[in-house]
Amino acid sequence: MEDIKRKTISALLSEGAENAGKIVDVKGWVRTRRGNKNVQFVALNDGSTINNLQIVFDLSKFTEEDLKPITTGSSIHVQGELVASQGKGQSVEVQARELEIYGTAPVDYPLQKKGHTLEFLREKAHLRPRTNTFGAVLRIRHALAYAIHKFFNDKGFFYFHTPLITASDCEGAGAQFQVTTLPLENLPVGEDGKIDYSEDFFGKMASLTVSGQLEGELGATALGLIYTFGPTFRAENSNTQRHLSEFWMIEPEMAFYEIADNMDLAEEFIKYCINYALEHCKDDIQFLNDHFDKELIERLKFVVENDFVRLPYTEGVKILEESGRKFEFPVYWGVDLASEHERFLVEEHFKKPVILTDYPKEIKAFYMKLNDDGKTVRAMDVLFPKIGEIIGGSQREENYDKLTKRIEELGLTGMDWYLDTRKYGTVPHSGFGLGFERLVLFVTGMQNIRDVIPFPRYPKNCEY
Ligand code: 4AD
Ligand code: MG
Repeated sequence: MEDIKRKTISALLSEGAENAGKIVDVKGWVRTRRGNKNVQFVALNDGSTINNLQIVFDLSKFTEEDLKPITTGSSIHVQGELVASQGKGQSVEVQARELEIYGTAPVDYPLQKKGHTLEFLREKAHLRPRTNTFGAVLRIRHALAYAIHKFFNDKGFFYFHTPLITASDCEGAGAQFQVTTLPLENLPVGEDGKIDYSEDFFGKMASLTVSGQLEGELGATALGLIYTFGPTFRAENSNTQRHLSEFWMIEPEMAFYEIADNMDLAEEFIKYCINYALEHCKDDIQFLNDHFDKELIERLKFVVENDFVRLPYTEGVKILEESGRKFEFPVYWGVDLASEHERFLVEEHFKKPVILTDYPKEIKAFYMKLNDDGKTVRAMDVLFPKIGEIIGGSQREENYDKLTKRIEELGLTGMDWYLDTRKYGTVPHSGFGLGFERLVLFVTGMQNIRDVIPFPRYPKNCEY
């Protein structure tokens, strides 16, 4: 083979006919091979785009024996002339001159035909990134991650790294995975009969984080505007299409922001991300729209173009009570809304994303700012069509005495470091958390959160 710099299929297809007549070098995985005794057509994909490049093999230059290893799933290296294509659906194709086979794929390659079910592909999660669907989802996932960093960077936020192993419990929901090196079959027990954690790796009980927020607040009350973007872990036994045990969360935290500023930022942020994907992932979104969800593009545009509704929890409950609808779970003031309630408000009543605010303090975390009514806190959940809760956030309680009282009421300990932010130079501040996979779910139109992360973790499943 000649020494020619390889181009990605994405680059070749987008440059199109301007390279016609040039000898190009391409590498990738074979999707299909078809043809007759005179000519064979190979659809080649290298992951850079959903579109395949057609490679034409003239059987006066190659023998059937040469082409035999080119099976679905095999990997090849081709050099040849780029020519304008006569076939429909592509601008250019490659007339092969040289062929190198990296690896054939035997007939037991699981992704032989198109149109496997998502359930089948979940069983083959180690190979599914090679399908059109997962290629599209994973490229969109990348674009959204990039958009998130760009959004915050352009606004002057600092990317702040919070720990994954922690000794505190942010959400207080008791859903933490414990981290220990203690021998589980022979645990050290103290005189009080309890496990002696002083012998554990960190000398105390430690867990994987459920949220970087508390440490994020330390960042925001020093750097002003920060965001985190990292993995979080929740040991909830939730076998739903919206929950993962390991998911990624983006948590901006802003000094001097009150709840209204927080809502404005959340709405601007989420619209920015969706717009970015619409602009930069056209082919992939179109593919998902055509194959899985015919209303996807329409829904994305609708969300970007319309204002989110802002509604206090108390009014939301009133709407639900007066709806006359029979819900599976009863609705009353004080209840933690179920996904059927959230989706009724968003999909049927307002037909728009809703930011629900001012929840009863009992159903929200300890750190939220208490309203003057003494009953509700300055919480905000952003509720989305098909997804339900996509963002959860609040203005934080910045008053040292009130926060101390709430921490004592709930019997939380070891929070002195957190209270120091209120003891020394306290400021009003706010933040929120966006579940990254829920955003990817919304933008791709997929149904199941297990299909928008390469290696999903959920109860009784930890493959690879
Ligand atoms: O509402 P949550 O629990 O809020 C927090 O963790 C706050 N500390 C955020 C903050 O104010 N900085 O979680 C935030 C978001 C949810 O709205 C949801 O999108 C997502 O994280 N989320 C999950 N995503 C996938 N699987 C799970 N098990 C999730 N739990 C929460
Ligand atoms: Mg929440």
